[in-house]
Amino acid sequence: METMIITRSTAENEAPWRFVIEPSEVDEMMKELGLSSVMELLPTLVPAAKKMARTPISRFHVGAVGLGESGRIYLGVNLEFPGLPLHHSVHAEQFLITNAISHKERRIRCIAVSAAPCGHCRQFMQEIRNASEIEILITGSESGSEFRPLSSFLPEPFGPPDLLRDDVPLLLEPHDNHFEMIEMCDEIGGAARNVRLAAEKGAREAHAPYTGCPAGFAVVDREGRVAGGAYAESAAYNPGMGPTAAAMVAFVMAGGGDWEEIEEAALVEKEDALVSQEGTARLLLAAIAPKARLRVYHYRTSDADEL
Ligand code: THU
Ligand code: ZN
Repeated sequence: METMIITRSTAENEAPWRFVIEPSEVDEMMKELGLSSVMELLPTLVPAAKKMARTPISRFHVGAVGLGESGRIYLGVNLEFPGLPLHHSVHAEQFLITNAISHKERRIRCIAVSAAPCGHCRQFMQEIRNASEIEILITGSESGSEFRPLSSFLPEPFGPPDLLRDDVPLLLEPHDNHFEMIEMCDEIGGAARNVRLAAEKGAREAHAPYTGCPAGFAVVDREGRVAGGAYAESAAYNPGMGPTAAAMVAFVMAGGGDWEEIEEAALVEKEDALVSQEGTARLLLAAIAPKARLRVYHYRTSDADEL
């Protein structure tokens, strides 16, 4: 059984590009298919999600579909970037979580995914409070298709409790990082201003408890489509999502086309940051949108704001 996601598409015959399904639509879909539980609906959406993957390197499409406590369904796909080392790729599960973060979802209950979540993804999800309770179903698996908790995929996890106090907000919890921008916004207008504000928003919402260097990145394409992302660190460091990768997820979710259509980009990060995103942002743009102009803006924190 496969569910079609009937939705607005950028052009006729192109894959639909909507990555969020509202609770009312979820109900309709369940009625249409005669399903009594959303958990049964999730796997039926996986084939449609897979179609939206961008995999110029592997041609291996991964689709992930997750249910939030709000009742919304979030889709995720893998993204690969030609010209860049493979570790810049975004996994479908990371896309899904980034999608949920950008919609202020506070909890993910269950996820159906077309391939077994890799070690990095299992670890990335560990950054969510009570992560061990997230139920996961592998739709392509031959070993029987049932939901199992993340704790059975990743026993004895290393995670935020190993490094952080209990009261530090985790990945899906509200973040409001305080800082003061150094460069004023007054002289710039139009797209440059919008893209800067989106990057600033990303930096305020970033999850960077391990470095104290929240950062945000945003892009705008030739149609004026603005897409911003927030840095999301992992206790195990490597599986995190940089603000650049998060903005690429936002670009795809916003219906963005080829990466080359990106015209401007903005990075907001800390002055003299212990961990800087600027080099990665330049590398990414040089590889996928070489004509895009990057502006980098810095902020300062007062002692009271220090994380
Ligand atoms: N991939 C995922 O999206 N999720 C996983 O956890 C397994 C691997 C993607 C990454 C890459 O684009 C392709 O599948 C081959 O590894
Ligand atoms: Zn993975």
